[in-house]
Amino acid sequence: MMNPSNKPARVDIVEVAPRDGFQSIYEPLPTADKIRCIQALVDAGMGRIEIGSFVSPKAIPQMADIGDIVKAFNGTPGVRFSALVPNTKGAELALASGIRELVYVVSVSETHNQKNVRQSVADSLGGLAAIAALLREQADNETPLLRLDLGTCFDCPYEGYISWQQVDAVLEQALPLLEGIDLEIAMCDTTGRANPYQVADHFTRIREKHGRDNIRWAFHGHDTFGMGVANALFAIHHGATALDVAAAGLGGCPFAPGATGNTATEDVLYALRGGGIETGIDMQKLLQAADAIAELPGGQTASHLRKVPRERAA
Ligand code: COA
Ligand code: ZN
Repeated sequence: MMNPSNKPARVDIVEVAPRDGFQSIYEPLPTADKIRCIQALVDAGMGRIEIGSFVSPKAIPQMADIGDIVKAFNGTPGVRFSALVPNTKGAELALASGIRELVYVVSVSETHNQKNVRQSVADSLGGLAAIAALLREQADNETPLLRLDLGTCFDCPYEGYISWQQVDAVLEQALPLLEGIDLEIAMCDTTGRANPYQVADHFTRIREKHGRDNIRWAFHGHDTFGMGVANALFAIHHGATALDVAAAGLGGCPFAPGATGNTATEDVLYALRGGGIETGIDMQKLLQAADAIAELPGGQTASHLRKVPRERAA
């Protein structure tokens, strides 16, 4: 199933602990602590960071200080910062703050979409069209990028198994709305229940049907069933060029009961380094950042590499 010759020379690691991870912590974290952790990730050589979300502070109080966090990193050289936005209000706030990459989530599963953003998939697709219009208006400047996160692409906590045809059905509606937009599409294993063969099958089928030059593909994985690293590897061997991961494996989804955090950045980095795949990240500094993140009160972490002696993890 996995063809070694498909091994990419380089993969984009997208660090999502500041968004997917921090949002899982109930007690508000001091802004300065969040900034310190994000700075440690920057210092480790992280090229892409999902810095947080511009969401309703009633829905996710932990993100209420996102404006201050973005301000602290504006102008940081060499790092692409993105932010999740659930609607045009969030997109406008994110663009005004200086963010140039928006992450918009639509779940493939109707029930999960309803729980997550309190609207139907059809209404979320309407929101996607509105955000695309907003991005086209910005075209005078450097055109912002759009990351479409397709939630529950493999499994839904409420509806169970999700087939590639269900993913396809949402993409059939989404892609015509996005003509001319610089786009990355992530298939998200929101619950961490996918297995590597399902990941390979989805990436193969979906890219056969929708692959084109101006679309890049990403995999967003959680490690609930211990498949996280294997899933990430199968994704990149089947066309994903970016992987969403969280240092220390921080997290869990408040709308996906039982799900653990994103697959730990350090665990995925260990596997990629073994294959000689370039990421630009310094393992020792990443482990220091992961330690800082793991010390945040109230967070749940899951990482193999943090448990082995440091000299053996390097
Ligand atoms: N940023 C800041 N505030 C926002 C906002 C945004 N992007 N979107 C809505 N709000 C505010 C509204 O202004 C309103 O404030 P008010 O009560 O003071 O007037 C309030 O939030 C409710 O707005 P409404 O449009 O009625 O939204 P809702 O209550 O139906 O919630 C979402 C819908 C999508 C805004 C909300 O569920 C949300 O932000 N979800 C985020 C989910 C998420 O991030 N999940 C993890 C990703 S996988
Ligand atoms: Zn997630």
